[in-house]
Amino acid sequence: MTPLVLDAGGLHPAITDPAVESVGFLNEALARYPDAISFAPGAPHASFVDAVDLDACVRRFVAHLERDRGLDAVRARRRVREYGPSRGIIGHLVAEALTRDHGFPVDESAVLITAGCQEGMLLAVRALCAGPGDLLAVVDPSFVGILGAARLLGVPVVPVPETAGGLDLDELRRLCRTARDAGRRVRALYVAPDHANPSGTVLDHATRLALLELAAREDLVLLEDIAYGFTGVPGAAPPSLKALDRDGRVVVLGTFAKVCLPGARVGFVVADQRVRDARTGRVTSLAGTMAALKTMVTVSTSAIAQAVIGGLLLQHGGSLAELGRLKAEVYRRNLALLLGALDRHLDDAGPGVSWNRPTGGFFVRMRIPVRADMGLLERCAREHRVLWTPMAPFYLGATGDNELRLACSYLDPPEIEEGARRLAGFLREVRTA
Ligand SMILES: Cc1ncc(COP(=O)(O)O)c(C=O)c1O
Repeated sequence: MTPLVLDAGGLHPAITDPAVESVGFLNEALARYPDAISFAPGAPHASFVDAVDLDACVRRFVAHLERDRGLDAVRARRRVREYGPSRGIIGHLVAEALTRDHGFPVDESAVLITAGCQEGMLLAVRALCAGPGDLLAVVDPSFVGILGAARLLGVPVVPVPETAGGLDLDELRRLCRTARDAGRRVRALYVAPDHANPSGTVLDHATRLALLELAAREDLVLLEDIAYGFTGVPGAAPPSLKALDRDGRVVVLGTFAKVCLPGARVGFVVADQRVRDARTGRVTSLAGTMAALKTMVTVSTSAIAQAVIGGLLLQHGGSLAELGRLKAEVYRRNLALLLGALDRHLDDAGPGVSWNRPTGGFFVRMRIPVRADMGLLERCAREHRVLWTPMAPFYLGATGDNELRLACSYLDPPEIEEGARRLAGFLREVRTA
């Protein structure tokens, strides 16, 4: 019998998404050039991940279930070994941490624990974008995960250009009007207001307020991704959109991947909006509705992984901010080192090369005078042993061709210095070619 060979053209088109290809290419390039310095991974530093004592975290969480939640020893042990509720088993800890750290009261009933923030995005978009007329707006450029989720769900996406202060509100307003005139609606906007991936941009306070006002006027839901919020200079960040939200417009998307442990694959959604079922008259929270959808995707988030994250939160006094505080100092130091090294090594770079100066997050965005595509990346890796991420897949439109993203979270200071030196050598060569 001839084994089945499937035609890729007959499978879902998302399998050939440029973002998937770019990740595959970077992984291959790293295997081929193991001595390359990679500015590609937007991952926490390995030393932070190494330091987590998984067993101790689970034990601490189980002890907490007995001591603080009234479970007997057998039930507490089983809570982390058996099937659990689709809402998750650490929602109370996440609710307490957000209430303490972010200054907005969160009730456990509004929290859904997800298999990474990625699942949170998928469920939020699925729940909100119900029909073919529902559009998702995204700040352009955006994290590829939200673009992928929308693509997989067949939800049309419209771009709202990023600006220095955050996003182009006039364009968002225009998009809402155009959609309405065509019998459609922009249902939600995805935005990462604090040191966004990939640009590092922060939404300023005035833009946050204006965005909330616009959301109320245009009947929009705001999907606020807070993945990198912990990395900002303490006290310098404007309040989160959720903290400023008076009309219940904001759904929060969070992850533990950046602040502590990507391998746990634990994220969360805060969705306190009320959902009324006209058939039964029952009222639940949007988080509850999304939990129902979750039973059709991953059923529940690994209880073992949740126990590890719960234990980590407890170890840090139940505070997300405390969990990330020392790490954030390292990330800000790395960012400063990278910016300093770029200043020194690229001081003669000329008009075609420029980069932004974020004060938090994991990333620096650089513009170069040539197309930053896979071919250029291959050449850079082969001849200069340095890797970066092309920005084009983060954009919806045909922009971003001349941009690349440099992540510094995973590297140590000498690698940052040497990587910047290699990159500068490459860019000098490219410019004069
Ligand atoms: C802005 C942003 N949100 C979410 C995620 C993904 O989170 P998770 O790993 O929990 O799915 C990332 C990962 O890079 C990200 O940059």
